[in-house]
Amino acid sequence: MMVEVRFLHADGEGQSVGQGGGDTSLLTLAQSLGLPLEGTCEGQMACSTCHIIVDPAHFALLPPASEAEEDMLDFAAGACRTSRLACQIRLGDCPSQLTVKLPRESHNMQGL
Ligand code: FES
Repeated sequence: MMVEVRFLHADGEGQSVGQGGGDTSLLTLAQSLGLPLEGTCEGQMACSTCHIIVDPAHFALLPPASEAEEDMLDFAAGACRTSRLACQIRLGDCPSQLTVKLPRESHNMQGL
């Protein structure tokens, strides 16, 4: 099943839409769209530069975060109640439509 993901840009002004499924992670999809998620540790849960904020309406539809992911989110700048690590979300486990927002901090890291 393909999942359609809408990424709202950090400046609140644009969005990117991508599709994927199976074992592809939300981080991989975001990077394939050229979005500024660094994902420095490549999914090892050692960085938190893949932090995204899930639309509250979709948050409960995702498999819950592991304790290790929760711990790493404590270090993410601008983290909130519906924050997740994009490297830990497998598209095959997502609802068919998902909306997430890029945190402002990931934008700043690009020096923009
Ligand atoms: S890529 Fe490092 S925690 Fe997700």
